Amino acid sequence: MSIKQIETQYFMHTYKRNNLIVKRAKNQFVWDEKGKKYLDFFAGISVCNVGHCNDAVIRAIKSQIDLYMHASNLYYSPVQIKLGQELAKKTFPGTKVFLANSGAEANECAIKLARKWGFINPSKDGNRYEIICFDNSFHGRTMATMAATGQKKFHEYLKPLQEKFVFAKFNDIESVKKLINNKTVAVMIEPIQGEGGIFPACKKFMKDLRTLCDESNILLIFDEIQCGVGRTGRFYAFENYGIKPDIVTMAKSLANGLPLGAAVASKKCAQVFVYGDHGSTFGGNPVSCASALAVLKIINSKFLNNSLKVSKYLFSKLELLKTKHPIIREIRGMGLIVGIDLSVNGKDIVNYCLSKGLIINCTHETVLRLLPALIVTKKDVDTAVKIIDEALANLYNCKTNK
Ligand SMILES: Cc1ncc(COP(=O)(O)O)c(C=O)c1O
Repeated sequence: MSIKQIETQYFMHTYKRNNLIVKRAKNQFVWDEKGKKYLDFFAGISVCNVGHCNDAVIRAIKSQIDLYMHASNLYYSPVQIKLGQELAKKTFPGTKVFLANSGAEANECAIKLARKWGFINPSKDGNRYEIICFDNSFHGRTMATMAATGQKKFHEYLKPLQEKFVFAKFNDIESVKKLINNKTVAVMIEPIQGEGGIFPACKKFMKDLRTLCDESNILLIFDEIQCGVGRTGRFYAFENYGIKPDIVTMAKSLANGLPLGAAVASKKCAQVFVYGDHGSTFGGNPVSCASALAVLKIINSKFLNNSLKVSKYLFSKLELLKTKHPIIREIRGMGLIVGIDLSVNGKDIVNYCLSKGLIINCTHETVLRLLPALIVTKKDVDTAVKIIDEALANLYNCKTNK
């Protein structure tokens, strides 16, 4: 049986896999089992931000594996404690960290923390628990994070949903104001909506949101699982907005390919958790933490400035592409989280690019999503844009130019 047949027979059919059997990967490149080389402009959904199998990351992982791979969270693991310290210091003074295994788990922690904070800081009507999320958002696939996700397609067949997530319009402060009541405890937002089609929040909206949360004594939670860890050209996406959240969550690229999630919270909310309130057997695994410490070392300002230069070049190239191809409606994004919004379904373009050795993705049916490793070069951009250009020309120009 072929690998595809085995997968079909033995796996639950939750993933629509592309026609690529991965043999190995290094930096911004992937090779398939036949030795064909691909330029990776997706990095495993924004996971391998410092490149596949980055040398320093591999060294850190290997030296931790030589020591031990697991130590229960009932004991001290130096590499884990060091990572917590580094992450907290990187965020803002007074923050405290909880380490999980994934994005959804990091968000679960944030939701539980907010709920407990609302229990300890009630309104005149008692306990506060309602969380305002946004239309088109994505926060994960556990029961709570799925209920917090503002896309109905994820809710199908799973009702009744976890209660008390309500939805405002993204970038519309009035719609948030309308939802605030005595039960509201937090607002949760992706500074750049990822799965929803690469929509960055506006600066004014984010500032207004911070002010509104302060005035209403509610927490502001940023889900930076897709857009954090350097993706926007700053370590945290929120640094682009000149405001700070009360809780920020990360995962995906934090350990560059090993499972790790983190919720970092300001002192005022972090301190409401006491022993036994939350936990995870594997959360903050020492090998993942060693990898994350190496990632934090690599993502310095020189590294980020370099990625911003490439980002600028990429956006300029894509804007040119837009003038050439009428089916491109808009180019959106920040740093190296980029969406090419089309007037057609993007799946044929993704397949075409793959056949030509370029890995990209399509989200929300019509948005080509580019999430390359932050180490890509201008030459890589030239290669990627040339293939996308060719895909659009071959698949659509004859139709759209008529
Ligand atoms: C913004 C955001 N939040 C949460 C998640 C869930 O992360 P995970 O798949 O690691 O649970 C994702 C995953 O795509 C995400 O993009």
